[in-house]
Amino acid sequence: MSYAIVGFGKIGQALAHAFARKNIDVTVASRRPPEALTPQARAIGPTVVAKSLRDALEADTIILAVPFGEHREVAKALPSWKGKTVIDAMNALVPLEELDGLPSSAFVAKSFTGAKFVKGFNHLVAATLAADPVVEGGHRVVFLSSDDEDAIAPVAGLAKQLGFAPVKLGKFNEGGALVHARGRTWGQLIFQDLFKKKQ
Ligand SMILES: NC(=O)c1ccc[n+]([C@@H]2O[C@H](COP(=O)([O-])OP(=O)(O)OC[C@H]3O[C@@H](n4cnc5c(N)ncnc54)[C@H](OP(=O)(O)O)[C@@H]3O)[C@@H](O)[C@H]2O)c1
Repeated sequence: MSYAIVGFGKIGQALAHAFARKNIDVTVASRRPPEALTPQARAIGPTVVAKSLRDALEADTIILAVPFGEHREVAKALPSWKGKTVIDAMNALVPLEELDGLPSSAFVAKSFTGAKFVKGFNHLVAATLAADPVVEGGHRVVFLSSDDEDAIAPVAGLAKQLGFAPVKLGKFNEGGALVHARGRTWGQLIFQDLFKKKQ
């Protein structure tokens, strides 16, 4: 598997720390040229490599860590998302009418036609997500949801590799609703920093 993080701000960098901690290669990209991101990527670790957005999107698995309103721009950068797994780490505090009444991840997934689309790594503040997820033998929980049950397993595998304990919530409008903002209200599991004894 190959991994890319699109968006190298607070959440993108937090996730890059998680990859670096486990020596897992990850590409990072934003709208800026890779040279602008390289010093920060290097500071995080040698497995974190800045590339152009186009080159980063060659990865099999792409984590979206851009402001919600930018997802369409990222989606447009590839003619087809078939064969890709996209992990939505974004949160959207926007009126439901702007999302056609859908959970934000179901709305975003429409722009990434053909991709396996999973919501995850979105419920913690960046500083928490950046910290070592193994504390006193317990593993920090990350919640995963998707309308495609088969898409979750490889993302759960990645979460485990990174040291987190993945918890599957099911479909976006079922368990996944707990990690979505709805209108101006956060889902009940957002900001809950939970640990499991076993991954
Ligand atoms: N901050 C948190 O604690 C937190 C917690 C959970 C979830 N989230 C979610 O994570 C996402 C990112 O939040 P953040 O706090 O990390 O934001 P941020 O610090 O502002 O970083 C956003 C990043 O996205 C890049 N970007 C913007 N538009 C882009 C585009 N069209 N293509 C490629 N890259 C683009 C920006 O870089 P350039 O300007 O160089 O393009 C920047 O690196 C948001 O959806 C937010 O809701 C944030």
